[in-house]
Amino acid sequence: MKTILVFSGAGLSADSGIQTFRGKDGLWEDHRVEDVADYNAWWKNKELVLRFYEERFNKYKDTKPHEGHCALAKLEQKYKVVHITQNIDNLLEQAGCTEVHHLHGKMRSKKCEWHKDITVLDGDTRHICDYRDVAKEPIKIGDLCPKCGSQLRPDVVFFNEAVDLPYDWIAEYVKEVKYNDGVFICVGTSVQVYPAGYLVSFFSQVPRKYIVDTNPQRVSNYTLLKGTAKEKLPELVETLL
Ligand code: OAD
Ligand code: ZN
Repeated sequence: MKTILVFSGAGLSADSGIQTFRGKDGLWEDHRVEDVADYNAWWKNKELVLRFYEERFNKYKDTKPHEGHCALAKLEQKYKVVHITQNIDNLLEQAGCTEVHHLHGKMRSKKCEWHKDITVLDGDTRHICDYRDVAKEPIKIGDLCPKCGSQLRPDVVFFNEAVDLPYDWIAEYVKEVKYNDGVFICVGTSVQVYPAGYLVSFFSQVPRKYIVDTNPQRVSNYTLLKGTAKEKLPELVETLL
């Protein structure tokens, strides 16, 4: 079975009504990003950060996948499909995609504020706890870690925290996709920013590769499909099935 690797960003969810990051005014859902989704903001005002995520949690609860997500799920009839997404929603899973790796965490997950997976630039060594669980409800002040008693927080990567790109297995997939006539699809992410830019060059030797975006950046040897994910992904999937 051939492998398809799909790397996605905010633009994939946009057609389901979830706003992209680099919108106008540097605002993110009408808040200044640095006030609500930042490692330092967390320690300054946890209540504000939690309120912001509660709003998003509730908004995402009723959001449904669109034709583009469903088209990607359909690929699994014929291919092994691996998703790496920067999105924290579960729209790919809702559409039926079975292997989805969330680089920036998940909205419906919670973890200890001292979780060991949090990497901050100042090298704070107090991050040693390993508590993480499904979040069925928005997190509130006073929801405490059952292991160490600290406050729980959204299991997402905040600004000023490092994104842990799984280089080893991505390298394996590059090989698998490259030697097996596989496909790489990059959808709805600004490819000039890490890690998208890095992945795009990492896959440069793969024969069949596509960028789907309303405003696609020119990248050599990629086929650019200019348009919305909702419109372009079903067309692309038709040609692959
Ligand atoms: P961006 O908001 O930076 O980029 C969204 C991309 O989607 C742009 O290239 C748009 O042209 C494109 N786009 C917008 N609407 C679209 C549509 N309907 N169909 C297809 N494409 C569309 O979002 P990301 O690249 O996901 O990180 O941003 C990456 C990360 O930056 C985010 O995950 C976030 C932020 O810092 C963290 O929160 C850690
Ligand atoms: Zn803990």
